[in-house]
Amino acid sequence: MKRTVKDLINLEGKVVLLRVDFNVPLDDGGKILDTTRIKQSLPTIKYLIKQKAKVVLISHLGRPQGFEIRKSLWPIALILINALPTSVHFINKVYGEDVKKRIDEIGNGEVLLLENVRFYKEEVECDMEFAKKIASLGDYFVNDAFGVAHRKHATTYGLARLMPNAIGMLMEKEVQALSEAVENPKHPFVFVIGGAKVEGKINLILKLLDSADSIIIGGAMAYTFLVASGVAVGESKVYDESVAYARDILNIAKERGKKIILPVDHVCIHANAKRKKVVVASEIVDDMVGYDIGPKTIELFKEEIQHAQQILWNGPLGKYEEAKFAKGTIEIAKAIANSNAYSIVGGGDSVSAIKMAKVEKKINLISTGGGATLKFIEQGSLPCIDVIQDRIEI
Ligand code: ADP
Ligand code: 3PG
Ligand code: MG
Repeated sequence: MKRTVKDLINLEGKVVLLRVDFNVPLDDGGKILDTTRIKQSLPTIKYLIKQKAKVVLISHLGRPQGFEIRKSLWPIALILINALPTSVHFINKVYGEDVKKRIDEIGNGEVLLLENVRFYKEEVECDMEFAKKIASLGDYFVNDAFGVAHRKHATTYGLARLMPNAIGMLMEKEVQALSEAVENPKHPFVFVIGGAKVEGKINLILKLLDSADSIIIGGAMAYTFLVASGVAVGESKVYDESVAYARDILNIAKERGKKIILPVDHVCIHANAKRKKVVVASEIVDDMVGYDIGPKTIELFKEEIQHAQQILWNGPLGKYEEAKFAKGTIEIAKAIANSNAYSIVGGGDSVSAIKMAKVEKKINLISTGGGATLKFIEQGSLPCIDVIQDRIEI
């Protein structure tokens, strides 16, 4: 058990450096598209305000190359002003005398948001001298940034090595819910995987064969498995290096009596045709490319989902960003949301698809992590959680 923010006592007037993940999606003009991550960070911030700590918020936003005005955290300070019952301050730096002075000046129970920590290249390099400069600002380090807990950066990992520390309430909630789902799943447990990152995620399928009863594979991920089982896929996206591995997974599943369910029809286009007409086919041959699951597959997948007691979903089932290939993903999102199963969805595109299908309120757990959620499921923990002190049980 890791020490949590609630184990820290006598916080009045203490400076708590709170790492959060305010890496919200932005449009091309820098407008914030979704505030889920900010909202999910509020309980820990509010708890620290109540304890009358001085709350110093640290976050990254995007992957800037040096200073980029569109990636400033300033607009997030404006959102916090409306969301918090205290004064919220902002400073366009992350360490130094000016920052120290501002922290001295703010009242107990107030909040100071620092600038985007990735404006400094030392952050991703996990530069410990840089981390020391930030650590000198505070008394405690609390990490509530689940979404970036798979990255060993200066303010996610380095600070924990330098300061008395704890995890925040969002981190605790994510870890508890995801551990429970993987270690003590309700059965039948159906894992739905799609998307396009085959090399990054194929390991997860093998790992989940232990706990899941069946695995539904759609999206571009499915073509590598179809090739491995001897089915033609035309010119659809296949990861040749992963075909042998996919074949092993299919064999292991068979030996263990676990179902792996692959698409039986597809929404395709002819790559070489002048006019790219959309066709539904049960076989993908010649120059055809599959971009979505077909109607028979939707029914097949829905049937499995209906009997589930627990569902974990990551990865869209087609190229859902284009309306003509979004049907499979939207239908499956609705089926998951309307099922009786405890549903968990993680991944940037998957959460965005859930919103597109307008069913986010019916999903039991929407994880704030993308890569972090999958790494956690695969490995059972994450480096930035491991580095936090264990709780002293009395
Ligand atoms: P998440 O962000 O939820 O973890 P991924 O990033 O792994 O999901 O996958 C999402 C991407 O997969 C989307 O950009 C989508 O267009 C793509 N994709 C899904 N199915 C196909 C397909 N059949 N062909 C090409 N791309 C696909
Ligand atoms: C995320 O959005 O998955 C996290 O904030 C981590 O961001 P990164 O992939 O840029 O490290
Ligand atoms: Mg994605």
